[in-house]
Amino acid sequence: MKQGKANIAKPLTTNRHLVRWVEKMAELTQPARIHWVDGSKEEYDWLCDEMVASGTFIRLNQERWPGCFYARSDPRDVARVEDRTFICALSKDNAGPTNNWVNPYEMRRKLKELFNGCMRGRTMYVLAFSMGPVGSPMSRIGVQLSDSPYVVVNMRIMTRIGLPVLAEIDRDTMRVVPCMHSVGMPLAPGQKDVPWPCADEKYIVHFPETREIWSYGSGYGGNALLGKKCFSLRIASNIARDEGWMAEHMLIVGLESPQGEKTYVAAAFPSACGKTNLAMMVPPKALGDWKVTTVGDDIAWIKPDANGQLRAINPETGFFGVAPGTSAKTNPNAIAALSRNSIFTNVALTPDGGVWWEGLTDELPAECLDWRGQRWTPEIAKQTGAKAAHPNGRFTAPAAQCPSIDPAWEDPSGVPIGAIVFGGRRSTTIPLVYQAFNWSAGVYMGATMGSETTPAAAGSVGMVRRDPMAMLPFCGYHMGDYVRHWIKMQRSLSSTPRIFHVNWFRKGDDGKFLWPGFSENMRILKWIVDRVHGRAQGKETAIGWTPYYEDVEWTGLDVSRDQFEQMQVVDRLAWRKELIGHEELFIEVHDHLPPEMVYERELLICRL
Ligand code: OXD
Ligand code: MN
Repeated sequence: MKQGKANIAKPLTTNRHLVRWVEKMAELTQPARIHWVDGSKEEYDWLCDEMVASGTFIRLNQERWPGCFYARSDPRDVARVEDRTFICALSKDNAGPTNNWVNPYEMRRKLKELFNGCMRGRTMYVLAFSMGPVGSPMSRIGVQLSDSPYVVVNMRIMTRIGLPVLAEIDRDTMRVVPCMHSVGMPLAPGQKDVPWPCADEKYIVHFPETREIWSYGSGYGGNALLGKKCFSLRIASNIARDEGWMAEHMLIVGLESPQGEKTYVAAAFPSACGKTNLAMMVPPKALGDWKVTTVGDDIAWIKPDANGQLRAINPETGFFGVAPGTSAKTNPNAIAALSRNSIFTNVALTPDGGVWWEGLTDELPAECLDWRGQRWTPEIAKQTGAKAAHPNGRFTAPAAQCPSIDPAWEDPSGVPIGAIVFGGRRSTTIPLVYQAFNWSAGVYMGATMGSETTPAAAGSVGMVRRDPMAMLPFCGYHMGDYVRHWIKMQRSLSSTPRIFHVNWFRKGDDGKFLWPGFSENMRILKWIVDRVHGRAQGKETAIGWTPYYEDVEWTGLDVSRDQFEQMQVVDRLAWRKELIGHEELFIEVHDHLPPEMVYERELLICRL
C-alpha cells in the first residue's frame, strides 16, 4: 500500500494474509482512510457521534430511549434485493435454478469495475467478526471491509466483533471468509455526503467455492450486514453441506415445563411470519408455569454432537427485527430488548425525539415524521394511506437485553434440539398443526413449505411462494442438493428430532383468522413438546399426526371442538391442488432431488 493514498491505521493483527488482503482491497477501492475496528464501546460511541454530525443518525430522546439512534434510509434502499442477489458458483448447476447465477469470471470482472475507486473520500472499516461465540468449534469468522459506519455499529450489535476476533485470527486456526462491502457512492474532493449513501444498481454476490462475499450499492439490512444472510446462511449452507452440519433460517426457543423439563425447538418460517415473536413468546398464565426462553430469532447453526444429538447455536448476538406490528402486547420481550442501546431504521420519529411505528401503540401519535422525513398525521394516513413506518422498518437490538434470553444462549456447544417446526403464512388448506410421520416425511414437509409473500423482500406481496425450509432466498447452492443434504443428515443422528408444521394464519369463510392469536401459540407448542417426549396422543391423517381436541390444553381459552376441527381439517380436494403446487417447485429442481421426495409425494397421493 502506497503511503499517502490512504491514512493506514496500524493493523490490529499479526496475520500477514489478512494485512495483505486489506492492502490489496484498499488499492482497489482507494479509501481516504483505513480504520481497524477494535469493537470497543468508545469506538462505537465515537462512530455514532460522527454519524449524528453527518446526518445519518438522529440521537433519540435519551431519557426515554437511552443509547438509541434513528436512521432513515434512501427510499431506494429499504429491503433485501433478491433479484440482485447472486450465487456465482463455478457451474450454473451448482447454484441451481432458484438462484441467480452469473459466470464467476464475468462477475469478478464486473465487481472489479464497480469496486474500482468506490470508497474514494470515505473510510474503509476493517471489521473482523465471529458468527457464534468466539472460540466455539461451531463458530466461523469473517472480515468485512465496509465504507459504511452504519454497518459497523449495526454489526457490533448483531455479531461479536473486534479485538477478540482478531486474536482468534492471529491464532491462524480457522479459514476467514472475506466480505467486501461498499455503498457504491465515492465522494469527489469537496463533495458533500448524503445521510444514506447507496447506488441505484445493487449486487449481492457470493462465491461459494472460495467462500467470498461481495456486496455493492446497498447499506440496508441483509444486503449490507454481511454476517447475517450472506455469511450465516448462503455461505454457511455451503460450508455446512461440506462438513455435515446445517445452516438454517430458524429461530431457537427453549420451552420449560412447570416441572422444569426443558425442550429446545428450532423453527423455520419465511421472512416476516412472526419468528421474532415466537422466539420471545410469553406463555398464557392459564397454562401454568411454563417458561419460554430465547436462543435466537432468525438463524440456527445445527450440528450433530459426538453422540449423534443435534445441537444448535444462534450465530448472532442481536435482533434485526421488523418493527411494525411489534408492541408490548405482541412481543413485550422485544420491546424490553429494544428500549435502549438500539438502532431504529425507517420507522417514524415523534416530536419528543422518540420512535413510533404502526402497531406500537393503540393510540396514534398526533403527528410525527414518517420514514421519509415527511410530516405524518392520522388524518393524512386516513386520506392517503401513507404509513408512518416503512413495512420493513427495523430495530437492531442487543440479544443480551432480551428478558427472555436463554441462560445457555452463548453456550459454545449449543443447545440440544428436540423438535423442528416448519410454518408459513397460509390462509387456506394447511392445518394449524400436524406432525410428520418420520424424518423423510418431515423433510418433504419442509421442502414443500409455502407462504404468502410479505414486505421483507422487494417484490409483490400476498402470493403463495414455495419456500423450502424458508431457505429459498438464502440457500447458497442447488435447492435439490440442499434437500438431499437434509435427507442425508439422518445418517449422522442417533435419534432424529420430531418434525412438525404449524400455520397460525388459516382463515375461516368469513376471512377472519381461525387461531385466536400468537399469544396462544404455547398451547400448540405444548402438544409438540408432549409428542417429543412420547406423552401426547396423535390422530393419524393423510398428511401426518394431528392432536385430538383433548390433546390441546384449552384452560382459559374458549375454542370449541367445532372451531378446532375447522382449524385442523384436511380437505382432500384442496390438498390435491396443494400437491400440484409441490410439483411446480419439484419440476424445477427434479434432477437434484433425492428419491425420497418422490416416494413421499407418491405416499401422500395414495393417502389422499
Ligand atoms: C430477515 C429476513 O431480515 O428474513 O430476517 O428477511
Ligand atoms: Mn430472516
